[in-house]
Amino acid sequence: MSFEALELREQSPDEPTPVQAVPDRPTDAPPPLDLMSVHKAWGKRKKRNPVLKGVDLTLEPGAFAWVGGRNGAGKTTLLRVASGLIGAEEGYVLSYGLDPMRDRAEFQRRVAFLSAGNQGIYARLTVRIQVDTWARISFVDRKERPAAVQRTLEAFDLLDLADARCDRISMGQRQRVRLAMTFVADPDLVLLDEPGTSLDDEGHAVLNNAIEALRARGGAVLWVSPSGDQAQARADFTERHVLKDGRLEQV
Ligand SMILES: Nc1ncnc2c1ncn2[C@@H]1O[C@H](COP(=O)(O)OP(=O)(O)OP(=O)(O)O)[C@@H](O)[C@H]1O
Ligand SMILES: [Mg+2]
Repeated sequence: MSFEALELREQSPDEPTPVQAVPDRPTDAPPPLDLMSVHKAWGKRKKRNPVLKGVDLTLEPGAFAWVGGRNGAGKTTLLRVASGLIGAEEGYVLSYGLDPMRDRAEFQRRVAFLSAGNQGIYARLTVRIQVDTWARISFVDRKERPAAVQRTLEAFDLLDLADARCDRISMGQRQRVRLAMTFVADPDLVLLDEPGTSLDDEGHAVLNNAIEALRARGGAVLWVSPSGDQAQARADFTERHVLKDGRLEQV
């Protein structure tokens, strides 16, 4: 699930709905993410800007993949397509064999997307209510929700801020809240757009713990950030790709 759906709908009201038939779900353990020949352009006619020109990417259980590329290369567009927020014009997106349109609810329960920036938080809500509200939207069972929220606030070291209003916390604290929202429903695939923004060392450590726990139970993580930033040097990525001229190159 992602919290930028509304923003995005306003940005691109003419978003075409994919018309292709989705391939049958593979029966034997489909991977956390399978992108097949994904094409996506922004704008129309003369202003048409093809951004993804045939992207293929498969993430296996336990994967921790990095996708880099220059500013404007299409990394965020790729994550939006992979999260089901926007449709690909050609090609397919499957997560565990689930199609984001056909299997919407289950896809949203299993796939989480952290958008770049600091949006998606309601100023007047407290940190706890913000995370709880997101857990509801992400289909966390009503009975399990208080425990899930408590566990996630603890995991992201937010318990001391649980009753603080979201417009009265710092940028790094906001980012921790956004990360807590991303992880609260125990997703199996996590798509992270520049997740390190504003985090201090301890913030990076709690994020790493969440990523490791997810991978240990067979989940997968895709981390996107511009080439040349510090994330690129991480030793724990299982694979690295660069998005260039609309295609992924393994590096
Ligand atoms: N909603 C939109 N409408 C029209 N064009 C868009 C939209 N979003 C992105 N683009 C264009 O698509 C291209 C890729 O943008 P995108 O945000 O995917 O790049 P990025 O690789 O994430 O860049 P950055 O490193 O700066 O975050 C850019 O040329 C951008 O102007
Ligand atoms: Mg981006």
